[in-house]
Amino acid sequence: MRSSSVFTLLSAITGAVAFHAEPPANVPRSIEEFRQKHPYTPKAHDSRRRVVKIRSSRNDTDDVSDEFKAGLKKANHGGTLYLPKNELFIIGKPLDLTFLNDVQVHWDGEVKFTNDTPYWQANAFVHPFQTSIMFWKWGGKDIKIYGDGILNGNGQRWWNEFAGGEILDPTNKYLRPILFYAENATNLEMQGIHEKDSPCWTNFIVTSKGVSFTDVVVTAVSNNASSLPKNTDFFDSLNVEDLTVKRTWVDIGDDCFSPKSNASNVHVDTMYCNGTHGQSIGSLGQYAGEMSFVKDVVIENVWLLNGQHGARLKTWAGPDIGYGLIDNVTFRNFYHANNEYAAFIDSCYFNIPTETCAQYPSRMNLTNISFENFTGYTSGKYGLAVARLTCSTNPDAVCENITFKNFNITSPCGGDPVIICDGVKGDIGVDCVSSSSPEAIAALANKCSVPLATISPPF
Ligand SMILES: *[C@@H]1O[C@H](CO)[C@@H](O)[C@H](O)[C@H]1NC(C)=O
Ligand SMILES: *[C@@H]1O[C@H](CO)[C@@H](O)[C@H](O)[C@H]1NC(C)=O
Ligand SMILES: *[C@@H]1O[C@H](CO)[C@@H](O)[C@H](O)[C@H]1NC(C)=O
Ligand SMILES: *[C@@H]1O[C@H](CO)[C@@H](O)[C@H](O)[C@H]1NC(C)=O
Ligand SMILES: *[C@@H]1O[C@H](CO)[C@@H](O)[C@H](O)[C@H]1NC(C)=O
Ligand SMILES: *[C@@H]1O[C@H](CO)[C@@H](O)[C@H](O)[C@H]1NC(C)=O
Ligand SMILES: *[C@@H]1O[C@H](CO)[C@@H](O)[C@H](O)[C@H]1NC(C)=O
Ligand SMILES: *[C@@H]1O[C@H](CO)[C@@H](O)[C@H](O)[C@H]1NC(C)=O
Ligand SMILES: *[C@@H]1O[C@H](CO)[C@@H](O)[C@H](O)[C@H]1NC(C)=O
Ligand SMILES: *[C@@H]1O[C@H](CO)[C@@H](O)[C@H](O)[C@H]1NC(C)=O
Ligand SMILES: *[C@@H]1O[C@H](CO)[C@@H](O)[C@H](O)[C@H]1NC(C)=O
Repeated sequence: MRSSSVFTLLSAITGAVAFHAEPPANVPRSIEEFRQKHPYTPKAHDSRRRVVKIRSSRNDTDDVSDEFKAGLKKANHGGTLYLPKNELFIIGKPLDLTFLNDVQVHWDGEVKFTNDTPYWQANAFVHPFQTSIMFWKWGGKDIKIYGDGILNGNGQRWWNEFAGGEILDPTNKYLRPILFYAENATNLEMQGIHEKDSPCWTNFIVTSKGVSFTDVVVTAVSNNASSLPKNTDFFDSLNVEDLTVKRTWVDIGDDCFSPKSNASNVHVDTMYCNGTHGQSIGSLGQYAGEMSFVKDVVIENVWLLNGQHGARLKTWAGPDIGYGLIDNVTFRNFYHANNEYAAFIDSCYFNIPTETCAQYPSRMNLTNISFENFTGYTSGKYGLAVARLTCSTNPDAVCENITFKNFNITSPCGGDPVIICDGVKGDIGVDCVSSSSPEAIAALANKCSVPLATISPPF
């Protein structure tokens, strides 16, 4: 047998296809190349501010949480807490740091949480949203964290012990802490830090205004193939206004940037996400009677590799849900490689049966949403279907002015890509077919798969 027919045979068996797509030039392949392309050099601390130092840990169990808190108290009102390079600061107790006012942390060293999983589950702070727990709480005003240090969640033990669990299971007993949590913060900046191995979500920002993350690297990498770094979302929020994320490298195990209820004036620019669940808005409308909104959002210059979905909006359906709106959201300049749907509106999130969604459809309005300049290819999981808009069937939930412009996503399965749309009012700017149409059914049936997307040199 000639090698080409061996390949044809293998393809027929596995459904894999020979497919090769080059990403745009100069896409970084690693943290080092990301830093090379987007250099970050922490500034020396501002000489007008007094500098506070604390003792560092001698080993992995030497808890300096009291010193850390005392250091922030001392640096509060105009000073800088300095954590020098090559020093380790172990945090073994929950810390309430919501008293901050005009403080900086020059963070070149490593802050690491202990991995005493029973201790933290019994003692961590709690937030009712999706029964979240947190190692610590930051809050106050004019808080700036900067440097090329590490914030280490020491997540491996948590992922191992959680394996098989499901975060959205309401009876879930094993809870994992969020790595960085802030509430009631005004002017909160994080720059340059490498946020590493969070047990659960990496950042959760609640009721805050003027929040920015720049040049931050976020990774969660498991050394155990049977326990993945589940639910390690890069960013989640509730109730935030004026939020900026610029130049970020994300390699984690769930949503990349994912604001939840109540976010407005949000700008994300230059974000690389590998192996995530995609760039999500929501989920929203989960809680009975609660009004929630996301509006005035621009998310641009995004590279999404090996993820679940691409640009996604997810809302809940069911008998006990909330209501609200998603309005004025622009997703622009997205490169996709090996993601399921490049653009996806899911009005039946999470594992709600289709019949329940039909009986109690989502009560969220979706308006003024655009997907512009999308290039790249999907994973083939949904065949030739490269995008899907499934609006709520609720007659009171508006789904209007949702448009595609320069949308050039191909399917690796080899055929014309198909966009599926159900219930969108008005023209979406490109041809689309209903999910019950023969075209959609054929497109979905034509499945294939692609190898892990990589980026080839030269960078
Ligand atoms: C992307 O993630 C996959 C595993 O999910 C990993 O093998 C690969 O090295 C990562 N690529 C980059 C560019 O980080
Ligand atoms: C870790 O450091 C602390 C503080 O110096 C010390 O009491 C403890 O014995 C050390 N533990 C180990 C395992 O070395
Ligand atoms: C929020 O922070 C402000 C100061 O930044 C403070 O006055 C107020 O009490 C805080 N509110 C809550 C609910 O913590
Ligand atoms: C890897 O994770 C599995 C599943 O939780 C666990 O049973 C196993 O002990 C872990 N392996 C190691 C070496 O920790
Ligand atoms: C979101 O805003 C609505 C309307 O202002 C309010 O009723 C709701 O409690 C807010 N939700 C959260 C999570 O803050
Ligand atoms: C839409 O959102 C963007 C980003 O926040 C904002 O600049 C723009 O003014 C908003 N448009 C309208 C009509 O509010
Ligand atoms: C959703 O749209 C409907 C119809 O325009 C409107 O009556 C309702 O108030 C909107 N809901 C929200 C939360 O704005
Ligand atoms: C379209 O997006 C790609 C990145 O995916 C970017 O390189 C290109 O400049 C964008 N085109 C325009 C016209 O903005
Ligand atoms: C449709 O939404 C876009 C933003 O995505 C906005 O610029 C445009 O004005 C809206 N058009 C209408 C008719 O509302
Ligand atoms: C959609 O955008 C248009 C144009 O900016 C605006 O007039 C309209 O109010 C927006 N729709 C909603 C529901 O906010
Ligand atoms: C769409 O993208 C493919 C590569 O993925 C490219 O060959 C083709 O020229 C693009 N089409 C347009 C209209 O830009």
